[in-house]
Amino acid sequence: MAPVGISLESQTDRTMQMDRKPLIDRLAIFPRLGLANLPTPLEPMERLTAHLGGPRLWVKREDAMGLGFGGNKLRKLDYVLHEALASGADTIVSGGVVQSNSQRQVAAVAAKLGLSCHLAVYHGRLEPPTPEYKTSGNAFLNRLFGAYLHDVPWTGDRNAAIRTLVGDLEAKGHRPYFVPYGVSNALGAVGYATTISEIEPQAARLGFVPAAIVHCTGSAGTQAGLVVGAAVAMPNTRIVGIDIDAEPARVQADVVALARNASNLLDVPFDDAAVEVVAGHAGPAYGVPHEATIEAIRLAGRLEALPLDPVYSGKGLAGLIALIRQGRWRKDEDVIFLHTGGVPALFAYQSALGI
Ligand SMILES: Cc1ncc(COP(=O)(O)O)c(C=O)c1O
Repeated sequence: MAPVGISLESQTDRTMQMDRKPLIDRLAIFPRLGLANLPTPLEPMERLTAHLGGPRLWVKREDAMGLGFGGNKLRKLDYVLHEALASGADTIVSGGVVQSNSQRQVAAVAAKLGLSCHLAVYHGRLEPPTPEYKTSGNAFLNRLFGAYLHDVPWTGDRNAAIRTLVGDLEAKGHRPYFVPYGVSNALGAVGYATTISEIEPQAARLGFVPAAIVHCTGSAGTQAGLVVGAAVAMPNTRIVGIDIDAEPARVQADVVALARNASNLLDVPFDDAAVEVVAGHAGPAYGVPHEATIEAIRLAGRLEALPLDPVYSGKGLAGLIALIRQGRWRKDEDVIFLHTGGVPALFAYQSALGI
């Protein structure tokens, strides 16, 4: 029996060694373009902390990534568009609603790489909330960055019109590369795990281990990357996604599926129980800001000079504020708000915000 015992023990040792491989080494095997300005800052929010009476609040500035007004999709695109170039693509194809931050970032990266960019612009997911909705903010930047815009009706299928565009472009002799809605695929989620490999040492230098990282979640790649990265590098930090799509069950299922695929790519363990999607802070519908969103945008602006948008980051902070008011964390705990970007949309909603 002894040899069996010994071999089992060494097998366990090997598994533990594998589990201990640092996240940064696991990420290093995936090639990236290096277009995003990283690491993004981790800053204290002392005035917002004082206003809410704790916990100690910090903000991870994913809005400050540089290229094309920054935002969370750039981390994913750093990896996904490396694959596009490696595959010999000459055209990037993606899509989103009129004020999509994702397609604006796709347009920005394509411009920077000298690739042509075609975008399926979905109309009808929401009624335009302002006269400037269709022309300002991200819609304006898409044109500025030189993307070709194709207006299509919203059917609920986020990727169908993008795939149709890919087919049309192929038929015309282009070499298109498909970027899914929200840049949410397994490789994008792997790319987003890099956020954890930044936060862990940044927080350590500042002398804390966060109890939670809170952020808004939609097409799921951001949360999937955070959950998978935290499983390896920040096991004592809870990732809390605030649903902004008003579809919490769909978001939860998508995060679990993407995290599973990303954890396979990174060869790390994954537990469904690590996925927490909080419902009830999306307002009446996707893209429609409610009172709590506007309160969060005002507070962040007046107390921290932190611009948030009414579709994503404003709802994310509204959710965090609600959880704090419910007493989720002790005053001496540290909580990071992940600012995922989206600031250009603020201008497309200006007249609806009453600010
Ligand atoms: C500003 C902003 N924050 C958060 C998200 C949500 O990220 P994900 O789609 O990866 O869940 C998006 C997605 O479009 C976004 O534009």
